Amino acid sequence: MKGNRVAVAVLAVVVLVGGGAVPAQAGGGRDGTLRKAAPHGLRIGTAVAGGGHHLEQEYPDPFTADRPYRRVLAREFSSASPENQMKWEFIHPGRYEYRFGPADAIVRFARENGQAVRGHTLLWHSQNPAWLTEGTFSKAELRAILKDHIMTVAGRYRGKIHQWDVANEIFDDTGAYRQENIFIRELGPGIVADAFRWAHRADPHAQLFLNDYGVDWPGAKVDAYEALARQLLADGVPLHGFASQAHLSMRYPAPDQLRTVLQRFDDLGLHTAITELDVRMDLPEGGVPTPEQLATQATYYTTALDACLAVDGCNSFTIWGFTDKYSWVPHFFPAEGAATVMWDDFRRKPAYYALRDTLAAA
Ligand code: G3I
Repeated sequence: MKGNRVAVAVLAVVVLVGGGAVPAQAGGGRDGTLRKAAPHGLRIGTAVAGGGHHLEQEYPDPFTADRPYRRVLAREFSSASPENQMKWEFIHPGRYEYRFGPADAIVRFARENGQAVRGHTLLWHSQNPAWLTEGTFSKAELRAILKDHIMTVAGRYRGKIHQWDVANEIFDDTGAYRQENIFIRELGPGIVADAFRWAHRADPHAQLFLNDYGVDWPGAKVDAYEALARQLLADGVPLHGFASQAHLSMRYPAPDQLRTVLQRFDDLGLHTAITELDVRMDLPEGGVPTPEQLATQATYYTTALDACLAVDGCNSFTIWGFTDKYSWVPHFFPAEGAATVMWDDFRRKPAYYALRDTLAAA
């Protein structure tokens, strides 16, 4: 465990100055950034806001239209995850129609700014287009559709993707395969191995991941992933990593066993990653978190970061958006919010400084 002590000390300064205010002395220097503070070999990422819930808002597309947002995105992060722009409904809107423009723009931006890209996602039960979920296909057709999608999408970005979330959220909380996943339901769980094989053929350099939420503590879901990972590796399937999304809520304890979970997969020889970290909280009347809430939130963020820092093969640490302005949280959890590390105007919260100082000390 590296860095925790420094983070706590700096946090105290921040809280004294008042929630959200820029502290007089932030460790790592006033103009330090997350990416500069990070130890060699650890990518610091964010979701790149666009699509999904943003389509229902009055503001224009955040990634393409918000220039201050783009500046912070370029300055602070060394990895970018398209929030929605590589999902099936976005990139594959018709059976014979692909729409690559928005994802291409993110990949281009990332290259221009020295950022890795985490591809998200190739096999998922959610955000699939109606032509797929409501269509009538034979098993052979469905298999061909998935193969074509993976070969086309992963192939287009061949050599430009650091890590692909090949299989996303394939188990439910009991560790059973999710039957909402059309491919698993219709073709059986063996399709997961095929998805990895196709993705590897399409982009041999990308690290291929299993990715899920609710795997921050040991339990049935983690057991299911470990069993699957062992099986895939034994069968020679190109699986390279296991990731915890880490969507956290302050209604539950901080993820103090996440390190143990990640270590189980590290022990199998896999990379590990945190891919979608955010920490939501119940907002007081008026909607502004208290300094105490912000301090607690910062410890949740650093608990997740410390877990990654403590595990050798954890090479990517991504937060699911960096400003509350564009967070998905209030749209899914109306009573909760303030889940990211920056306010709407990009001022930094205690959690930001806690992450930066923990990185600098690592
Ligand atoms: O389903 C409706 C559709 O009928 C309608 O036409 C469309 C138009 O606005 O909205 C559709 O639902 C939206 C959906 O994206 C699909 O575009 C939801 O309202 C919207 O809330 C949803 O948001 C995205 C969400 O994934 C969907 O699951 C968020 O932007 C995105 O941040 C979030 O990201 C996921 C990761 O990919 C996987 N892990 C969990 C994470 C948070 O949910």
